[in-house]
Amino acid sequence: MEIIHISAECYPVAKVGGLADVVGALPKYLNKLGHSAKVVVPGYDNAFSKENQFDLVHKGQLRLGWFTFTYSILKEATDKLGFELFLIAIPDLFDRPNVYSYEDDTERFTAFQVAFLNWLTETNQMPDIIHCHDHHTGLIPFMISHAPIYGHLKGIPTVLTIHNGQYQGWFDFDKLHYLPKVETSRLGFLEWNGVINPLASAVKCAWKVTTVSPSYLNEMSEKANGIENLLRFERPKSLGILNGIDNDVWNPETDPMLTHHYNSKTLKKGKKNNKAILCEQFNLDSNKPLFTFIGRLVYEKGADLLPEICSIALSRNPNEINILILGSGDPKIEHSLSQLTHFYDGNYNAFIGYNEKLAHIIYAGADYLLMPSRVEPCGLNQLYALRYGTIPIVRRTGGLSDTVIDIGDGGFGICHDQTSVFDVNYSITRGIDLYNDTKLFDTTRKKIMQIDHSWESVAHEYLTVYQSLKR
Ligand code: GLC
Repeated sequence: MEIIHISAECYPVAKVGGLADVVGALPKYLNKLGHSAKVVVPGYDNAFSKENQFDLVHKGQLRLGWFTFTYSILKEATDKLGFELFLIAIPDLFDRPNVYSYEDDTERFTAFQVAFLNWLTETNQMPDIIHCHDHHTGLIPFMISHAPIYGHLKGIPTVLTIHNGQYQGWFDFDKLHYLPKVETSRLGFLEWNGVINPLASAVKCAWKVTTVSPSYLNEMSEKANGIENLLRFERPKSLGILNGIDNDVWNPETDPMLTHHYNSKTLKKGKKNNKAILCEQFNLDSNKPLFTFIGRLVYEKGADLLPEICSIALSRNPNEINILILGSGDPKIEHSLSQLTHFYDGNYNAFIGYNEKLAHIIYAGADYLLMPSRVEPCGLNQLYALRYGTIPIVRRTGGLSDTVIDIGDGGFGICHDQTSVFDVNYSITRGIDLYNDTKLFDTTRKKIMQIDHSWESVAHEYLTVYQSLKR
């Protein structure tokens, strides 16, 4: 089958969060199963675009309201990512360094989607499946189903995967003229609560809706930033598929970002060596357990509580733990976490920023990964941690509750019910106890490294979905 994935992010082309990891891996594994999966993302002005070779495969125009833009389709020349990668370059809108957070994001992503459909149209492409990811590509199912100028594409099944239902891409009907003409009777397919809601529209119009874990799908019927009822209504065509991880990229035995490689047999020494590097770099004590947080410093991830959690943990157990934070996000949280270094020098450190290489070294060297998320559709960090023998401490929510079982229930992680300072600190205490129970600590680490969350098996689940939609 020919499957086109369309997304705002794709690792290593452009990454903000886990969406990129999924879009950069699933297509590769679909191809390994003998299919033809391609990826389409905007052409940003970033390192990947500058450092790679591209062939210009198409040039066209698109209209956005009163404006006309030219767009180019650039194909990465070597297919080295394991799939054909196409960038849609739209000067004026995407030749900027960042993926999101510009005032004209509505214009940017609407133009991207229109350019995509124009390209398919002008080059007579009829893929077997169009797979849209999150709200940035959520208008595509609507345009295919309801805009007469794309009527010839109507038979192509569309799939929407929701990676994060908190963001929905809302904009007012005064921008309706950005979209190709549709009959007034069809406007209801765009609308939710009085505005154009691209995510809701895709939930209505896509042939199939998936979320990135089964628990998240259940939770969304109760809590989904305003679209709960819609998700409940569309439940019959929805399903949750747990994400995989790319074992080629995330393999402590071969990871090029690590100096010390290891597997489940050599884990003790391997992790010790990686921990020593980290502790030296961040002035920590490698004899004490190392707790870490890696990720976006935002409310959704429970990061607002980290300063308090760390203060309490470090003042209560001054000689028993280290904490290392890696992340960026809310400037207030960044500031508080940086300030803490002055108070707990020698036990605590924070790297404010995004650093993929450091993340790999931390997974390899840390003992525990904290994920106190309020919302976690799947979560990939706990899966990376497992693969690197780092025990996850998670809040039971979404994908975290689908992937981490508490050690007290015969599992391998530490789980708590609330995103609260108390719950997380209690879990940290449990972590210290487990660290001191050397035998159990080591067998647990060995066990988690062997859990299989590879894309190989998950790719089959997506194929089943695609095949069920076959025309
Ligand atoms: C989003 C979600 C995260 C999920 C990822 C990939 O970043 O917040 O939970 O793992 O998408 O699907």
